[in-house]
Order: sequence, then structure tokens, then C-alpha cells
Amino acid sequence: MALNVVIGAQWGDEGKGKIIDYLAARSDYVIRFHGGNNAGHTVINKFGKFAMHLVPSGIFHAKTKVIIGNGVVVDLQVLLEEIEILKKSGVKVKNKLFLSPRCHLIMPYHKLLDSLYEKAKGKGKTGTTGRGIGPTYSDKVSYNGIRIADLMNSKSFSDKLAIQLLVKNKILKALGAPELVQKDIEKVFFGFREKIKSFVSEPFSLIQDAIKNRKNILLEGAQGTFLDNDWGTYPFVTGSTVLTGGINAGAGIPQNKINNVIGIAKAYATRVGEGPFPTELAQGIGEKLRTIGGEFGATTGRPRRCGWLDIELLKFASYINGFTKLAITKLDILDSFKEIKICTHYTLNGKKVNYFDGDSNFLLKIKPVYRSFKGWEKSTKGITKYNDLPKEAKIYLKAIEKLTDTPIKYISTGPKRQEIIKI
Ligand code: GDP
Ligand code: IMO
Ligand code: MG
Repeated sequence: MALNVVIGAQWGDEGKGKIIDYLAARSDYVIRFHGGNNAGHTVINKFGKFAMHLVPSGIFHAKTKVIIGNGVVVDLQVLLEEIEILKKSGVKVKNKLFLSPRCHLIMPYHKLLDSLYEKAKGKGKTGTTGRGIGPTYSDKVSYNGIRIADLMNSKSFSDKLAIQLLVKNKILKALGAPELVQKDIEKVFFGFREKIKSFVSEPFSLIQDAIKNRKNILLEGAQGTFLDNDWGTYPFVTGSTVLTGGINAGAGIPQNKINNVIGIAKAYATRVGEGPFPTELAQGIGEKLRTIGGEFGATTGRPRRCGWLDIELLKFASYINGFTKLAITKLDILDSFKEIKICTHYTLNGKKVNYFDGDSNFLLKIKPVYRSFKGWEKSTKGITKYNDLPKEAKIYLKAIEKLTDTPIKYISTGPKRQEIIKI
């Protein structure tokens, strides 16, 4: 039995979907424990190409059951659309997908508030995905959330919605947005309820039994360590606990049952949205990485900012999440580079400083220090054996292992399930 966790080690989009799809072949359960449809996890396999937003990326394996844990915030329209796409592609969903009644609902006013806050912040905006994630989590924390369980009970839903609209409509009106009508929302959400209710069931005992019966469980992290609400580059972060620590609260799994924590990092770095990015390469090489890497958001289609791999961040991600292994993805994207750089550490006024010494403003002041590597200038695309990698690529990977003090277990050499090296 193994309880494995996959966590993004950078700013999201590290290739978690691809790795989950690969690892899930041996998993009885794949569980999402935080985030919402701000996530876009790309999976490419025999069923086609999918951007998974809410349904865990393990759904494609016949024997794998998937759970949307209580820590996830759910936009029911997006979830229903995703289920339809999967069904149309021949993927079985019935009796395989479980949705926790404790999940909080993303309501229409959350999406409006998300964009109104962004507009109000102007240049200082977070650059959210606009999916209502922050406002939904803030209502959850301030006891103003509406959960799936409420939707299952018309009176509870209507009563809670009435209170929320009393407050939210005042805010919307003050900011020049249209007010929302209770009856309209009820009509839409009671419609969703009929379509979703067969998937709603408390997964706690299912998960506890699976642990007891030594089943293989895979936890699917969303976003990435530096978007974590506490330890990321606040306020340029997301609303949830992205770290391993979110699993206990977000899926009801005790921390001491976890066997492996796999940190996923690209062989370089990307970020979508605003916020500090010390190793960002504005033009030239950054543009080349974006073009070759196809670095455009799976959720919003926005161009991703690109830069060199940042070991200072990767080391921090490894310590705080307790990574036992690393998976390095998109190695093939570096195939044509003559020179590849790694940021080994940061300095400020000539002195070595750490990521955790300061905040987002501090990160704008630090200087990344680089080590240069000779590029391999050969194709690694689709390679499945470590020994088939060019010598320079092995040197690059060994340096990452040594500098982060974390062994590399997987190397991804293409977007497809089978394009991977297991060490
Ligand atoms: P996630 O959010 O962490 O699941 O990552 P995304 O799906 O948002 O972004 C990763 C992108 O890289 C997707 O387009 C994947 O298909 C692609 N990808 C993943 N691994 C590899 C790889 O090893 N090589 C290449 N070329 N593409 C990859
Ligand atoms: P996956 O799971 C990359 C970023 C947004 C923005 C910030 C806050 O695919 O890796 P939010 O909508 O969450 O309030 O936006 O977080 N962001 C992501 N960036 N990958 C993601 O998910 C992201 N989810 C949120 O761009 O900067
Ligand atoms: Mg993504």
C-alpha cells in the first residue's frame, strides 16, 4: 500500500495532470483536496486531450475511483460540463466519481466579486483566473459559505442564499454591478442539483477503509507551492493551502499515513498572473521557452511568463512539503538550448538571503545568482530510459538533485502518458 502525494513545486502548471494520469494506473483512488476550477491539468492519453479542472486526473483508468474532497470549491456548471466531455469521450464516470457534500459552492456573486476586486486593485491586481476562488474561500472562512449539502436541502439553500444576497447585492450595487435575483439563482442551482446528486456522497469512510485495507491512494495537488495562501508570494497567491499540510483538512487524511510526497517541477520555470518571479526572462530566451514549451494557460489561455529553474524556490518547496522525490517535467523543451542556467541562490547587497526572509516586495529586490550548464542540443523527446539521455542532460538533472537534496524519481520527456523515465 502507498499513499502518494503530488504537489506543484513552482507556480502551478508543472505538469501535475500528466504525472497523475501516469501514476494513477496503479492507484485505487485519486483525490483532489483543495483549489477549484482555477486548476487546469492537461492529460493526453488514448481517450484524447483533456484540461481537467475539477474531476481528478485519475478518472481515465478503469479501476480507479476519484474523489473531490471537502477542501475543493466547486463550480457546478464547470463540473457538469467536464463530466459531459468525459462521457462523450468514452470515459466511465458513473460509480467512479464521488463529490463531498462538504465542498463549498462557487456562487455567481463570487465570480462577480473576483473580477470587481481585480478591477479595483488596478495595476496591483493579483491576476486571478476569474473563477471566483478567493471570494468563495473567504466566505468559507468567515462562515458565509453555502455547501453542496445545503443545496441538497432546498430550505437550507434558500435561507442561506437570502442572507448572502442581502449583503452581496449591497456590495454589487455600490460597485456598479447588477444585483442578483434569488429566484433566478435557485432555478439554476436546483437544476444542477438534479444532475449532480448521484455523485454526492460523504467519502470519509471510503477513504478510511481504503487506508485500512492498504489500497493505493494518490492525492492530486493543484496550483503550486508559491501560490500557497500562507507561504506563497502573498498577495499574488490563491485562496487555498496548496501544501501537503492541506491534505488533513481538505481530504480528512491524517498526515502520518502519507508515504511519499512527489514534488513536480518543470526543468525551467513559469508563472501565470501577477507577482514576483526572480528568474523571469522577459524577452529572447523567455519568448523561446514560451513558444517551444507551448506555455499558454490550460484554464484561461493566458501566455505564461517564463524563466530559468530556481533552486532557492525548489529547495524551499522540498523542505516545506517534505518532498521525498522529485518529478522533473518538460525536459524536452530545453533540447535546443545552447546554454541552460539554474539560479542556485539569492543575494541582497552582496549577502546570501533566503526566499523565506521576506515578502513579495523583498523578492523584487533580491538578485538571483546563476550557474551555467552546457545544453545537450539533442532531442530527448519521448525517451523512456535514463541511460538514453544525453550526457549534458544527466549532468543538469544530477545538479538539481544535489542542490535540492531530493532524489529525482521521474523525468517527463513529452506530454503523453508514456513519455516518461522512471528511475
Ligand atoms: P498542470 O496544471 O500542473 O497539470 O500543468 P498544465 O497541464 O497546466 O501545463 C503543463 C503543460 O505541459 C501541458 O500542456 C502538458 O500537456 C505539457 N507537458 C507536461 N509534461 C510535459 C513534458 O514532459 N514535455 C512536454 N513537451 N510537455 C509536457
Ligand atoms: P494548476 O492546478 C497556474 C494563479 C492565477 C493567479 C493566482 C490567483 O493548473 O497548476 P485564483 O484564480 O486562484 O484566485 O488566482 O493563482 N493560479 C494558477 N496558476 N496554475 C494553476 O493551477 C493556477 N491556479 C491559480 O493565475 O496568479
Ligand atoms: Mg495547469
